[in-house]
Amino acid sequence: MTDTNPPVPLFDLSRQWLEVKDDVHAALDRVFATQHFILGPDVPALERECADYLKVKRAVGVSSGTDALLSALMCLGVGHGDEVITTTYTFFASAGVIWRLGAKAVFVDITADDFNMDPVALAAAITPRTRAIMPVHLYGQACDMDAIRKVAGDIPIVEDCCQAIGTEYNGVSVGGLGTFGAFSFFPTKNLGAFGDAGLVTTNDEALGERMVDMRVHGMRPKYVHHFVGGNFRIDAMQAAILRVKLPRLNGWIAKRQEGARHYRRLFTEAGLLGHITPPPELPGRGHTYHQYVVRAERRDALREHLGTGGLGTEVYYPISLHEQDCFTELGYAKGAFPVAEKAETEVMAMPIFPELRADERERMVAGIAAFYRG
Ligand SMILES: Cc1ncc(COP(=O)(O)O)c(C=O)c1O
Repeated sequence: MTDTNPPVPLFDLSRQWLEVKDDVHAALDRVFATQHFILGPDVPALERECADYLKVKRAVGVSSGTDALLSALMCLGVGHGDEVITTTYTFFASAGVIWRLGAKAVFVDITADDFNMDPVALAAAITPRTRAIMPVHLYGQACDMDAIRKVAGDIPIVEDCCQAIGTEYNGVSVGGLGTFGAFSFFPTKNLGAFGDAGLVTTNDEALGERMVDMRVHGMRPKYVHHFVGGNFRIDAMQAAILRVKLPRLNGWIAKRQEGARHYRRLFTEAGLLGHITPPPELPGRGHTYHQYVVRAERRDALREHLGTGGLGTEVYYPISLHEQDCFTELGYAKGAFPVAEKAETEVMAMPIFPELRADERERMVAGIAAFYRG
């Protein structure tokens, strides 16, 4: 690596900071002036704006994506003796929240093309104890929600939209396709806060009201508790910052999509399609590219080669959830979910953040081409 060849980071938030910083400072000054940090006016304002953006009836700001999933399951009354079905190939939180409620996480495999819940496997996993189904719109591409909804019937669906804000499934925003949607505003997400924050969406007014109380210990009115909830409140400062960023989200998503098209062109031109499989864009699934994840031949050696040249990549995820030590007692053996286990060895995320420059994408692909040329 030389001065003329600086590293290409997997992610660099400092570039976005330059774009938003004046507006963020102004928004924070407004919060500081009110000194209203807990559920201050920016919280309901953000919730209205998110509900409009996502075209859902209710949007409730919460403390993180994890708490969005947890509190949604709590609103559905999930607990001991219940089963909740999710995929084995996702971030830990999807299954961790099921476990924390004393319910059993039932894993299913993914489909090879979209890395998302396989509806056929889902159908086979449903039992009389299935209390909820949690599809995950992984990397920003929507699941096959028609098939999942058909299989689910009356069983509530909690969509894990933590990687997929702004994704539309056949024109409908994810988060509006199930009973609940759970979003994360973790700083690196397509819409990121300056700390932890999340959102729960629903088109069911009664469940929306229950969620509002759930995030304040099941309380309404003050100091009267009808059920046990938690402190799942979104921070007013985070809400104010997210309001600065939300109007820019579609522009940022368009840049991610443009970057994905560029990568595909570069892979084709470099004759790399025998070694690299770019993410498929499935009809109606609206990929918003939270992650740009390819399948790569000899993935680990390739990553090592790229890393030596300062070219950033990551693996989401190297270990499926059914293989995690903490879930040993669920009794899944290695080999239980072959599609996910194959993905573990092949997937590689490449830089895709909106401010990534074309020349940086060119350098990533040139680095990959150099590896396969050997
Ligand atoms: C698929 C998925 N589910 C849940 C979460 C949890 O979100 P958070 O980190 O905001 O708690 C994340 C975020 O990393 C995620 O990617």
